[in-house]
Amino acid sequence: MFQKIDKTLISAAQIEARIEQLAKQIIDDHKDFAEITIVPILTGAMIFTADLIRHMRVPIRINLITVSSYPGTALRTQGASILGKQLGDIAGRHVLLVDDILDSGNTIRAVVPVLQELGAARVRVAMLLSKNRPEAKGAQVDYVGFDIPDEFVVGYGLDFDGFYRNLPDIVTLKP
Ligand code: IMP
Ligand code: MG
Repeated sequence: MFQKIDKTLISAAQIEARIEQLAKQIIDDHKDFAEITIVPILTGAMIFTADLIRHMRVPIRINLITVSSYPGTALRTQGASILGKQLGDIAGRHVLLVDDILDSGNTIRAVVPVLQELGAARVRVAMLLSKNRPEAKGAQVDYVGFDIPDEFVVGYGLDFDGFYRNLPDIVTLKP
């Protein structure tokens, strides 16, 4: 299946360097708080989150939410649906929502209110990638790793039809 890879857009080394910077910025912004609750949006954010939190030598908790927006081989979002959540008691907590990529913004628009309704004291949003699409205007994003062109990408957690998440680089696919 890996023969369908077109080109490397962002290498593993570039990702690693940028994540270290993002982690520093996040810790600095949260230095007045005793702890941070990290909520990765599964499945895409699991690899980004795993690397990010290992640069954060501060007390963190992890809670989970699973969202599906690109079922199967879809290349455009089919609308975000929440498939499951293990959020525990996040009332009063400082939450950092982590996702792989900002595309239409639907996922963030769906998830941020859920956390707010559960009483989170503050929700911030970290995205590894942003496609800067006009549809995403107004979706809350506090940290962005890389701005990328509006192309379908896979690797480093991002999938096409469930595959490619394990690639260390972020790549485009051949049409
Ligand atoms: P949004 O809800 O349209 O902002 O889309 C965000 C979600 O769609 C992300 O969390 C990804 O899981 C998925 N997604 C968006 N663009 C891509 C892509 O280029 N490759 C793989 N998944 C994507
Ligand atoms: Mg996702």
